[in-house]
Amino acid sequence: MNRTILITGANRGIGFETAKQLAQMGYQIVLSARNKQKLDDAVQLLSKEYPDIIGLQMDISDEKSLNAAAATLMQQNIKLDVLINNAAILLRGIDTSLLSNEISMIEQVIDNNSIGTLAVIRTFFPLMNKPGRIINVSSGGGSLTDTIGSGFAPAYCISKTLINGITKQFSFELEKHQITINSVCPGWVRTDMGGPGADRSVEKGAETIVWLASAEVNETGKFWRDKEVNNW
Ligand SMILES: NC(=O)c1ccc[n+]([C@@H]2O[C@H](COP(=O)([O-])OP(=O)(O)OC[C@H]3O[C@@H](n4cnc5c(N)ncnc54)[C@H](OP(=O)(O)O)[C@@H]3O)[C@@H](O)[C@H]2O)c1
Repeated sequence: MNRTILITGANRGIGFETAKQLAQMGYQIVLSARNKQKLDDAVQLLSKEYPDIIGLQMDISDEKSLNAAAATLMQQNIKLDVLINNAAILLRGIDTSLLSNEISMIEQVIDNNSIGTLAVIRTFFPLMNKPGRIINVSSGGGSLTDTIGSGFAPAYCISKTLINGITKQFSFELEKHQITINSVCPGWVRTDMGGPGADRSVEKGAETIVWLASAEVNETGKFWRDKEVNNW
């Protein structure tokens, strides 16, 4: 049976690369993002090799958009085996100080990255097959024990600490539904977000996400980096 994976924020960067690698492995991919034109372009590109790619326009920070996207999948009788929450924003050059930045900017980042991810999980949970997997793309910048990125983009880092909290708390509730949920740090990756000076390729950035989606990993409520458990 064809196993299906929904990936948010997949019109470029790590999400797109993750989609490509998992499509290569034979999964049916639901490619999702906010920007319709860039989403259509990404779907067209992947469809040349993998014809059953599905495009799903969705803004994770907009409840109506989430409900409409879930309704579209339901109408097509599509159930999900894996949900990869990859979409996020980083307001480079703006997100610089918890003391002086506008609260509205900090709210925007947390709303988009953390509450948006929580809302995606709630919306798509009824569409998930059991057993199932959820993978939340986090960041070392969200770790409370690592010093990776310390002081850099503090609102973004808090949004990723929250992602880790969301992963942990959902892990208790989802266990009885046979759904595992894990966070992953992709490392510093050369994408629009990571910039050209990052030390990792998108292939390397996608590696642990693809592994958590496809390999025999039954653990839940953990924070991973390079296929190893990371400190929260
Ligand atoms: N690159 C790094 O060095 C790095 C390091 C640590 C963690 N990460 C994490 O890895 C993930 C992927 O990052 P990336 O580097 O590939 O970033 P990217 O190139 O900037 O791509 C971000 C993706 O998120 C989507 N997105 C943002 N807000 C959205 C929303 N409200 N609704 C739907 N889609 C939304 C964007 O789609 P639209 O353009 O359509 O809005 C885009 O497809 C993120 O969670 C990021 O925090 C990245």
